[in-house]
Amino acid sequence: MPQPLSPPRVLVAYASNHGQTRLVAERIAAVLDALGLDADMHDLEARAADPFGPDYAGVVVAASIHAGHHQKCAKHWAQAHAASLGSTPSAFVSVSLTAADDSDEARAQTTQLIDAFTDETGWHPLQTLACAGALRYREYDVATRVLMRLIARRHGQPTDVHRDVEFTDWDAVEQFARGFSATVTGQKDGSTLVC
Ligand SMILES: Cc1cc2nc3c(=O)[nH]c(=O)nc-3n(C[C@H](O)[C@H](O)[C@H](O)COP(=O)(O)O)c2cc1C
Repeated sequence: MPQPLSPPRVLVAYASNHGQTRLVAERIAAVLDALGLDADMHDLEARAADPFGPDYAGVVVAASIHAGHHQKCAKHWAQAHAASLGSTPSAFVSVSLTAADDSDEARAQTTQLIDAFTDETGWHPLQTLACAGALRYREYDVATRVLMRLIARRHGQPTDVHRDVEFTDWDAVEQFARGFSATVTGQKDGSTLVC
């Protein structure tokens, strides 16, 4: 009797300083699972064994921007796997506050930061998503809270440090995940998609 086919496995690797990118990665994994794929999560900051290997039919890497750069652990991981990632359907999700700003200048800056990541790593994902993150005032230490409040004020964002503010467009995240699922299952060409 023929064995049932196991669903394509997808790795969702992420780096997250204050939790928003982890939430984004979890939502992407949930959508992929709901569409019949088998998504594994991997925290790039944790010292767990690196699960990446040829079994994966697709890879999503999510990282956030802090002081003008994505996390070093995400950069090093993508650098180490650039060749394999290049031959696997792969996507990069960049989470930042700049992505919450709808101006041409902010869009250009976000694109520049994503380009810097792909240039430095040598990995050129099929799809990219610039995703608005969050201000998690209540989780920051005092110095970070003061700094982020100043930056928020400069950008016209909420400055009440007693309330966290989430800018993430969850519909865009889910749409992105559906597009990536279609790429992995061969229902769509892997073209660059910037939401
Ligand atoms: C100390 C600090 C520095 C940050 N620097 C930037 C930055 O340079 N550009 C930007 O767009 N967002 C910046 N952000 C915003 C983060 O990218 C945003 O809060 C994101 O949601 C963080 O995701 P994470 O919690 O998963 O790390 C910064 C946030 C913090 C706390």
